[in-house]
Amino acid sequence: MKPVEFVLVGAGSRGAHAYAPYAVNNPNDARIVAVAEPDPVRRAAIAEAHDIADEYCFTSYEALFAKGQLAEAAIITTQDAMHVEPTLLALAQGYHVLLEKPMAPDPLACTRLTLAAEKAGRHLVIGHVLRYTDFFSTLHDLLQAGKIGDIVTVAHRENVAHWHMAHSFVRGSWRNKAESTPMILAKCCHDLDIMVWNLGRECTRISSVGNLNFYQKKNAPAGSTSRCLDGCTVEATCPWSAKRIYLDLEPWPEAAKVAQQTGEAPNVWPFNVLSNDRSYAGRVAALQDSPYGRCVFHCDNDVVDHQIVTMEFAGGISASLSMHGLSNDEDRSMRYDGTTGTLHGYFNANGGRIEIKPHRGTPEVYEVDGRSGHGGGDTGIMQSFIAAVRGTAAPKSSARESLESHLLAFAAEEARLSHNVIEMDDYKAALRAQADQLA
Ligand SMILES: NC(=O)c1ccc[n+]([C@@H]2O[C@H](COP(=O)([O-])OP(=O)(O)OC[C@H]3O[C@@H](n4cnc5c(N)ncnc54)[C@H](O)[C@@H]3O)[C@@H](O)[C@H]2O)c1
Repeated sequence: MKPVEFVLVGAGSRGAHAYAPYAVNNPNDARIVAVAEPDPVRRAAIAEAHDIADEYCFTSYEALFAKGQLAEAAIITTQDAMHVEPTLLALAQGYHVLLEKPMAPDPLACTRLTLAAEKAGRHLVIGHVLRYTDFFSTLHDLLQAGKIGDIVTVAHRENVAHWHMAHSFVRGSWRNKAESTPMILAKCCHDLDIMVWNLGRECTRISSVGNLNFYQKKNAPAGSTSRCLDGCTVEATCPWSAKRIYLDLEPWPEAAKVAQQTGEAPNVWPFNVLSNDRSYAGRVAALQDSPYGRCVFHCDNDVVDHQIVTMEFAGGISASLSMHGLSNDEDRSMRYDGTTGTLHGYFNANGGRIEIKPHRGTPEVYEVDGRSGHGGGDTGIMQSFIAAVRGTAAPKSSARESLESHLLAFAAEEARLSHNVIEMDDYKAALRAQADQLA
C-alpha cells in the first residue's frame, strides 16, 4: 500500500517530535511532503529529515494552504489559539486532519470545527493520545468486559509534577488564559475524554472548584529575584529553580547523563522547547532571555494550580476529576467502583498497573509496559489515523466524541468561575443556538 501523504502545519515540540518521526520510522505508512513553520531552524530540520524540496517548505499555514491541496492529510500542531483557521482551511480543501488537542480555545469554535468536518465528510481526529495507549486500552476493555459490574462512581486524578506545572502552566505557553486556554482544558481534556469513553454515556451536570493558590507573588521567598540566575539567594534549595530544571536536569537523571556525555540536552520535550540550542551555554542564554528563566513566583500566570470537577452522568453515575500542579512525580491515578468490584489504575511515564478486586473471587493484576511518547499514544494515534485515511479501519474517536470532553472542560471552567452547577442539556442547547446563528 502507498504511504499516506501529509502536510505538517507547525513543526514545534509536538509536530516535529511526537508525530513527524512516525514517517521516518514507517516510510511505507506515512510521508511528509510539505511543512509550514515560521522558525527557520525547525523548518530546515523537518525539510532535511523528510527530504522536502524548498518549494514545499512554507513560512506559515496561510502560505501552504494558498497552494491548494498538496496531500491527503494534514497534521496541525500549532499552538492552541491557532487551531481553528488552519483546520477550517484544510477541511475545506479536502484534507483529513489530525489536530492537536485542544480543538479550539472556546466551545463555539470547537462546535464549528466538528460541523465543518462532518459537512466536508473528512476525518477530524483530535490528539487525545491517551486513548491509544496500552494502559488506557486495557483499562477500557476490562471495564467493558464487566470486571467490576456496573460502574457506580469514578475518582480520577491528574497529578502534574511541580516542574511540569512550572514549565507549562506558570512560565510557559499555557500560563495565561488570554494567550492559550484554561488549564482544565489544556491538561485535562485527555482525562475527561477517557472518562466519557469508559462510561459510554453523557454527563448531565457538572460543578467545579479551584483557583491559583500557590504560584503567586505573595508566596515569593525573601531573597528571590525575578529570574533564577539573577542572584536569587534561595535558588540552591528551590524545587522550581530554572537552574535545577534546565541546566542541572535534576528531574531527569538519564538526560543529565546524556548532556554530560554529548554536551547537549537530548532533543526531546521540554529541552527542545527551551531553545533550539540545547548546549549548556545555549540553555543559560535561554534562561537569561526567555520566559523559562523566570522565578515561578514572579510570572504573569493566571491559570489555576488546582481544580476539582464533579460530574453526574446519565444513569446516576457520579464522577470526580482532581487536577493539581504540586505533585512530586508526574502520574495519573484512578479508581472505579462498580456493583461487583473495585478497579484501581496507576499510570506514569514508565507504564502502569491495574488491579481488579472483585467483591467475591480472585483479584487480578495487569502490569502494562511503558513506551515512550505518552505511553505509546503518539505512535498509536498515527497508526489509527492512517488506517482511517486509508479506509481500512474506523477512527478510534470522531470529532464529535472529542467535542463532548471539550464541552465538559469549558462547562467546568464556567461552573468554577460562576459558582454554579451547569446542566449540560441547557449548556449544549445554548451552544447549538449560537452555532445555528453562525450557519
Ligand atoms: N496531545 C498531547 O498530549 C499534547 C501535548 C503537548 C501539547 N499539545 C498541544 O499541541 C499543540 C502544539 O504544542 P507544542 O508544544 O508543539 O507547541 P510549539 O510552540 O512547540 O509548536 C507550535 C509551532 O507552530 C509554529 N507556528 C506559529 N505560527 C505558525 C503559522 N502561522 N503557520 C505554521 N506554524 C506556525 C511555531 O513556530 C511552533 O514551532 C498545542 O495546541 C498543545 O496544546 C498536545
